[in-house]
Amino acid sequence: MSDQANENIESVLQETRSFPPPAEFVEQANISSKEQYEELWNRAKDDPAGFWGDLAQGLEWSQPYDQVLEGEMPETKWFTGGKINASVNCIDRHLDSWRKNKAAIVWEGEPGDTRVLRYQDLYREVCKFANCLKKLGVETGDRVTLYMPMVPELAIAMLACSRIGATHSIIFGGFSADAIADRNNDAQAKLVITADGGWRRGKNIPLKEAVDQSLEKSPSVEKVVVYRRTGCEVDMVPDRDYWWHDLMEDVSAECDPVELDSEHPLFILYTSGSTGKPKGVQHSTGGYLLGTMMTSKWVFDLKEDDTYWCTADIGWITGHSYIVYGPLANGATTVMYEGAPNWPDEGRFWEIIEKYQVNIFYTAPTAIRAFIKWGDEWPNKYDLSSLRLLGTVGEPINPEAWMWYHTVIGQERCPIVDTWWQTETGGIMMSPLPGVTATKPGSCTTPLPGVVPDIVTAEGESLGDNQGGLLVMRQPWPHMLRTLYGDHERFKDVYFSTIEGCYLAGDSARRDEDGYYWIMGRIDDVINVSGHRLSTMEVESALVAHPKVAEAAVVGFPHEIKGEGICCFVTLTTEDGSDELKNELKQHVRTQIGVVATPDEIRFAAALPKTRSGKIMRRLLRDIAAGRESTGDTTTLEDFNVIANLKQKED
Ligand code: PRX
Repeated sequence: MSDQANENIESVLQETRSFPPPAEFVEQANISSKEQYEELWNRAKDDPAGFWGDLAQGLEWSQPYDQVLEGEMPETKWFTGGKINASVNCIDRHLDSWRKNKAAIVWEGEPGDTRVLRYQDLYREVCKFANCLKKLGVETGDRVTLYMPMVPELAIAMLACSRIGATHSIIFGGFSADAIADRNNDAQAKLVITADGGWRRGKNIPLKEAVDQSLEKSPSVEKVVVYRRTGCEVDMVPDRDYWWHDLMEDVSAECDPVELDSEHPLFILYTSGSTGKPKGVQHSTGGYLLGTMMTSKWVFDLKEDDTYWCTADIGWITGHSYIVYGPLANGATTVMYEGAPNWPDEGRFWEIIEKYQVNIFYTAPTAIRAFIKWGDEWPNKYDLSSLRLLGTVGEPINPEAWMWYHTVIGQERCPIVDTWWQTETGGIMMSPLPGVTATKPGSCTTPLPGVVPDIVTAEGESLGDNQGGLLVMRQPWPHMLRTLYGDHERFKDVYFSTIEGCYLAGDSARRDEDGYYWIMGRIDDVINVSGHRLSTMEVESALVAHPKVAEAAVVGFPHEIKGEGICCFVTLTTEDGSDELKNELKQHVRTQIGVVATPDEIRFAAALPKTRSGKIMRRLLRDIAAGRESTGDTTTLEDFNVIANLKQKED
């Protein structure tokens, strides 16, 4: 277990505060008693097919399924024989009621422009764009890359893909041209949908330019659709590049949805693992939709008249599941904001909450830590009384940040749901139920119905209370990943080969005497920088691709705002140990991976600490990066001078 994990455990072990749900919340909650929760959880555990089969009646199937659950992990299939379409479930089925006039997406652009799309509007735009995709030759089963800013057209493009059965692969706008090319090639994408640019802190982010560069190395891509957002200058290549608005001009506003197998791949989303190569996590249609629909309802206590806002970018799984598919499958109103939380000033999020009277607000601990730093005067300027529920996701929340969220934003009135899950799990796995669970700051509390976690040793033995170990899932759930695109062996190996019969989450955790789960950290070389998941290996491979770098070792270190920062220890092939070279290397990593992976620190070293068998001693480097005295065993260290030298550099 990492030292970071040990530190986390120490800080949360002292946490004894507990906050029961407020009575007025309980009264109106979708799930409102412990008995109700236990009944659901026990039924889902003892009879998963019966439990999920009943809930699946809440989706619209064009052909009923024959079997709810088939096979065992990792080869499980859900709702086999059933035919379904995600866009129908997120849009069409809301149109034969008053919901056709309900706001589906309430959007605010960074410069302050706004748009509201009713369900009927979304239907029209999605059908039209689905017809454009068809016109460009996209067929059921093709992969389509989306590299877009946070505009409604991103959600429209996702739903249009799903309408015709094309599998979307969204790449977060913070990734570079090289990263886009890697993903295009891995997915063999046929088409890319992008925009000229997107707004970020008043600046234009040149998205089309990055796509143009990526296409030099993406032979599978035939065509590009460009949405005009910022109006910046772009090169349009004839017969390859098409403006969104031109395509939309004369297409029909009706497009029959394709009836797809329940297991049809709705999307691929690349995420970092412990090697340098990102993994294409593939999700299904029926199971994924059911999971995101139900978890939205349970965890966010969604009601017909709620205004719900998740601040994630759709380029990450949180945006897929809890801005688009989960809320829309419930017929909810989902808010989408294009830009930065501190533009034009640090009050932007609170202004949006007041303006749209947001009831449910879901954000990340890294954002909360930034809000704390910016000062209470910002939220205090706005009326936040519409809020009734708060959520967090993506990384452990430190109890201090939790308390601030509770008092300053929630005004001690709103339950907080600390939701633990992953790109691979598709939807929330562990979280308080806001009308049931007494929350403890720093704990994601208890598993949702259908989720059967355990904490085990490396040999797979279940551990008792308060013993840290590997977090695993003992039962399949409908919204779990189905494979890693193009690499089913890696899928089986990474998640299912360590502990027999279980899904390995890659996190360490403990369960306390009340059955509450506390996430302690990753067990692999994945780091969590501002809630963005990165592999240290990915950054290392980027660094060693630079001609002046001989060797690189990358570790995370505790960072006040980001959660973890990126520290790179580098040995050089030259004598040049200048600050300019440090900046050049930082820039180099940005070019290779993207702005999300920008190193916080580059440290030049004469040598890296290695064991006698030649393995880099990352634990020691983590201690040095964190400025800690090392507690690690150094008896196998090849050369003690290496450590002395590295420490000296620090001083
Ligand atoms: O380490 C856990 C951390 O984020 C990882 C998953 O990252 P990603 O696939 O990018 O998905 C993030 C959004 C769902 C997990 O393995 N993590 C996520 N949520 C929490 C968390 N750690 C602690 N508490 C959480 N609530």
